[in-house]
Amino acid sequence: MAIIKSNTVNIKLAVNKLQDGELVAFPTETVYGLGADGLNEIAVSKIFEAKQRPSFNPLILHVSSLEMLSDVASFTSDKIRLLTDKFWPGPLTLVLKKKDVVPYIVTSGLDTVAVRMPANNVALDLIEYFGKPVAAPSANSFSQLSPTEAEHVEKQLGDKVDIILDGGRCKVGVESTIIEVAENSQVLLRPGGITRKEIEELIGPLSDPAITEQSPNSPGQLKIHYAPNIPINFYDESELTNYKNLKLGGIFFSEVKNHKKFEITKLLSPKREMHEAASNLFSHLHDLEQLDLDMILVERVPKKDLGIAIMDRLTKAVNKYL
Ligand code: TXA
Ligand code: MG
Repeated sequence: MAIIKSNTVNIKLAVNKLQDGELVAFPTETVYGLGADGLNEIAVSKIFEAKQRPSFNPLILHVSSLEMLSDVASFTSDKIRLLTDKFWPGPLTLVLKKKDVVPYIVTSGLDTVAVRMPANNVALDLIEYFGKPVAAPSANSFSQLSPTEAEHVEKQLGDKVDIILDGGRCKVGVESTIIEVAENSQVLLRPGGITRKEIEELIGPLSDPAITEQSPNSPGQLKIHYAPNIPINFYDESELTNYKNLKLGGIFFSEVKNHKKFEITKLLSPKREMHEAASNLFSHLHDLEQLDLDMILVERVPKKDLGIAIMDRLTKAVNKYL
């Protein structure tokens, strides 16, 4: 049985696995991560293999202290200090200049490394006891839904990982925001659990990444991602006639519409509140994915605050089936 309670004894079992160069799945406040010793090339290569993840897609190193950050990345900008003071531990990933100890397999050959300190005590204990940064992508198969519960990990990777530490449902529910901060630029690479507005209030305007076909390295540039394994499209009342005779599942923002057309419906946030909506997003998609449906229709949410990250994930899921 891969899923185990996240008590101290089991966290230490997981640490042993990391020391042996093996993989463990663990909870963070955003989504579950598939972790390996971030400074061990062979261990890290197992992550790519288990996820069937393309090697051009670099990983995030998870740290439990600012010392650990300084061990793997160098930076001079005072803004980094401001950001870590305000948002760490929390769903903000910083892309910084890497130090030599970080193997290129982690960064997919880039001279920068992505680092974050997760706001989850199980994750922090795991990293702290291990004493080194833990490389971890979301614990899903490549381009599938991100996991927000231990069972989601087991469903996708149960045969590839011995230990899944169960920390319950992830509080934030969408991945971290990723920004790259260098001397003369600050770029929002992926919208996520901390809003653009919150960051800009602290360090000034962020720019958007220059999109080039040659550099799929930056996150958010893969147009297809996070997709359920049954077709998904945005809900549009005028298009419902196109889906006649299909078994539909519906995900609505705060109230169900045309409920008679659906086999089952779910609400992201009865309170119309974006944190609640984000925390339900992937678990609703996982739930519907397991049912015998022909299609999922999901209502757009307002593109403000966390709604930007939610719409980013949903658009990528829909793109898979266009
Ligand atoms: O919330 C999260 O960030 C979760 C939890 C487990 O921490 N992790 C996560 O990892 O979402 P993953 O691997 O699914 O997404 C990491 C993203 C990728 O899109 C990758 O391209 C980007 O981070 N990334 C990593 N290193 C980078 C770098 N040096 N430069 C630009 N992007 C980088
Ligand atoms: Mg992912």
